[in-house]
Amino acid sequence: MAFEKFDLTGKVALITGAAGLLGMEHAAALLESGATVVLTDMSTAALDAAAQRLGEQYDRARILTAVMDVSDPAVIEGVAQKLRDQGVRVDILVNNAAIDPKVKGDQGVMETSRLEHFPLDQWNLQVTVGLTGAFLCSQVFGSAMSRDGKGGVILNIASDLSVFAPDAPDSSTSSMTTSCVPHTRCAPMACLRRTNSW
Ligand SMILES: NC(=O)c1ccc[n+]([C@@H]2O[C@H](COP(=O)([O-])OP(=O)(O)OC[C@H]3O[C@@H](n4cnc5c(N)ncnc54)[C@H](O)[C@@H]3O)[C@@H](O)[C@H]2O)c1
Repeated sequence: MAFEKFDLTGKVALITGAAGLLGMEHAAALLESGATVVLTDMSTAALDAAAQRLGEQYDRARILTAVMDVSDPAVIEGVAQKLRDQGVRVDILVNNAAIDPKVKGDQGVMETSRLEHFPLDQWNLQVTVGLTGAFLCSQVFGSAMSRDGKGGVILNIASDLSVFAPDAPDSSTSSMTTSCVPHTRCAPMACLRRTNSW
């Protein structure tokens, strides 16, 4: 095991947006550390492909999948209930789902992503997935972690743009992920008041 000091054998980590670029890296690191992972994302096809790729290197029995839209509280609660019914307790929540378009070449993105042109619907989508989604998942899975007294970990993934001001015209990623920072500080404290962390 590469990270012996971080042995997570017996722990379960649920990752949102797990089929994306960084989601796969989080999953690989957690599997490497011995955890079981629950990969969640928007589509069955993407999740199947992700599970198959990770299964080539790691124990397939430690890779679970669930379609979960982080913007829909009923869907999140449904996944949590299904996992509970299967006897799966989520010990680690990785809030990673995001709208993070990849730019290839000059597609006019620099111009449309400028603050003065940035589309409101795109702003709302980014906030809904990246910020509200983290809040909703923390509400459901964080509450469950504190309810049984065993505690857990909530990891919110943000961009480095949340801690420094880039020399770039696009403020959306920066604003959205910066908003995750106070959420990261406050949500675990609220849970920790009721439980001991491990
Ligand atoms: N890519 C980078 O270089 C980089 C660097 C630093 C930080 N980050 C941060 O890492 C996080 C993930 O970025 P990424 O580049 O892996 O993005 P990505 O676009 O590759 O993956 C995001 C995943 O989220 C999923 N998703 C979108 N809407 C969803 C919803 N409503 N419910 C559930 N899942 C949904 C997508 O299907 C996708 O699989 C972001 O917060 C980003 O700011 C990325």
